[in-house]
Amino acid sequence: MAGTRTFSIIKPDATRRNLTGAITAKLEEAGLRVIASKRIHMTRDQAEGFYAVHKERPFFGELVDFMISGPVVVQVLEGENAMQRNRDIMGATNPKDAAPGTIRAEFAESIEANSVHGSDSDENAEIEIAHFFSKDEIVG
Ligand code: TYD
Repeated sequence: MAGTRTFSIIKPDATRRNLTGAITAKLEEAGLRVIASKRIHMTRDQAEGFYAVHKERPFFGELVDFMISGPVVVQVLEGENAMQRNRDIMGATNPKDAAPGTIRAEFAESIEANSVHGSDSDENAEIEIAHFFSKDEIVG
């Protein structure tokens, strides 16, 4: 049973510090399988579109600037209850609140430069996957 799918981004603070492998290892150890992956440098349009739900938030401009400040690695993850499993291993948004052993507790620099994104619902996962991947790029 392959399970369900979710969407992940390894953010610019993490690619800058060469943590792509270390973070992917944490995802795999948590029972998630990487079934699609690519390194991209998001355009401003892509980042604004991706974070459109946060458009009115005070941190939106800085968040977009950060997300285009370097390359990211976008991934599709598969596993039993993949969305929640990924949220659990990511840890809280603010690394100060993240449980020990989570990706953000171990690697994040700040609430903004917090190393990873993960979809927060199965519905959003589907939308976010479609934003970055065509069907033939996903090999389950
Ligand atoms: P959010 O969806 O609340 O968190 P999560 O990534 O855990 O699902 O916020 C999206 C991103 O916005 C978050 O990863 C980092 C950024 N952000 C800030 O820069 N400042 C803030 O105060 C918040 C709440 C988020």
